[in-house]
Amino acid sequence: MASLKFIHFLSIIILLTITAGSGCAMASLPAVKGAYWPSWSETFPPSAIDTSLFTHIYYAFLMPNNVTFKFEIPDSTAALLLNFATTLHHKNPPVKTLISIGGGGADPPMFARMASEAKSRQVFVNSAIEVARKFGFDGLDLDWEFPKDPKEMQDLGHLFKDWRDAIQKEAKSTKKAPLLLTAAVYFSVEFLWDEIYRKFPVEPMKNNLDWINVMCYDYRGSWDTTATGAQALLYDPKSNISTSYGLASWIRAGMPQHKVVMGLPLYGKTWKLKDPNVNGIGAPAVGVGPGDDGVLIFSEVVKFNKKNRATVVYDAETVSTYSYAGSTWIGYDDTMSTTTKIGFAKAHGLRGYFFWAISFDDEWEISTQASRAWTI
Ligand SMILES: *[C@@H]1O[C@H](CO)[C@@H](O)[C@H](O)[C@H]1NC(C)=O
Ligand SMILES: *[C@@H]1O[C@H](CO)[C@@H](O)[C@H](O)[C@H]1NC(C)=O
Repeated sequence: MASLKFIHFLSIIILLTITAGSGCAMASLPAVKGAYWPSWSETFPPSAIDTSLFTHIYYAFLMPNNVTFKFEIPDSTAALLLNFATTLHHKNPPVKTLISIGGGGADPPMFARMASEAKSRQVFVNSAIEVARKFGFDGLDLDWEFPKDPKEMQDLGHLFKDWRDAIQKEAKSTKKAPLLLTAAVYFSVEFLWDEIYRKFPVEPMKNNLDWINVMCYDYRGSWDTTATGAQALLYDPKSNISTSYGLASWIRAGMPQHKVVMGLPLYGKTWKLKDPNVNGIGAPAVGVGPGDDGVLIFSEVVKFNKKNRATVVYDAETVSTYSYAGSTWIGYDDTMSTTTKIGFAKAHGLRGYFFWAISFDDEWEISTQASRAWTI
């Protein structure tokens, strides 16, 4: 326990050291309480959203044509977009709406081709701006997962620069407030995948984006069925794959805290335990548990726990929650772990938080607690 406290203490000291010197001129910027809305969720229309709990909602997702890089919006999508922006702007209170472009696994080579040349970047950003304005959105978000090498990371920087320039130009000529521009990014600013080192282009990102949505989740999952894991833990005493490490890496690399928004998962990852009596974090497993590829959304986790009288454990060391019943093990975030993470984000001067995804909550339980925790 003592060493654990020391680790917490140490990470706070490190972050405070990084924070010092940047001042708090930006402390008055309004918090971001964001969430992505999966446009394919047929049972969760925008009208069902409790907007008192959020400030920004992202329409997930749009993709441009993979050859022309222009957005071609079918009538059915046009109706969804229009309904989304209109409904959320007319709610009490209203929230800002952004279109998120891309998504997990959404044709990364397309983004690479588009971003590699000034001409195609121009076509893409102009078309994106046109779509946002046409349907009355407040901003645009890019979720390219992920540029695959240093060259593509550099092109990503060029893309954000061109995009911001085009947004400023458009705002000036139309005399409208400039569109917001944000990006969903990996939990860590630099990483090694397939033996290739990559680092996000922090300089053009901090100069041209309003903020980044850091995806602080999916640290563990069905690709490793040998052991259970906390997929979104705040602290990991044994590795750098943790939210505290990832967020600190962005700040250390120069991203201002007021442009960093912490991602929170409204879903859990499941495993099948090798031995139901050995059921902690990292316990031996033999496969995934219930859910599509071992994923259960939060409302399903709640249902599972109730139905199976699962044991629920909040793990203070990692700041994560898990439950188990029989041979099923689920790692997820509940109101406890979410509240602690939000305290962490506030203490380090971050801009706010966002959820993937809004429709996964259970009767607004976590969204409500998160909003409250940020405000007090
Ligand atoms: C573009 O998309 C079409 C339709 O999905 C596909 O057949 C084609 O191979 C794609 N082209 C490229 C260059 O990826
Ligand atoms: C964690 O990151 C630090 C600094 O980036 C590095 O020196 C260290 O080797 C990493 N530790 C592990 C376990 O990956």
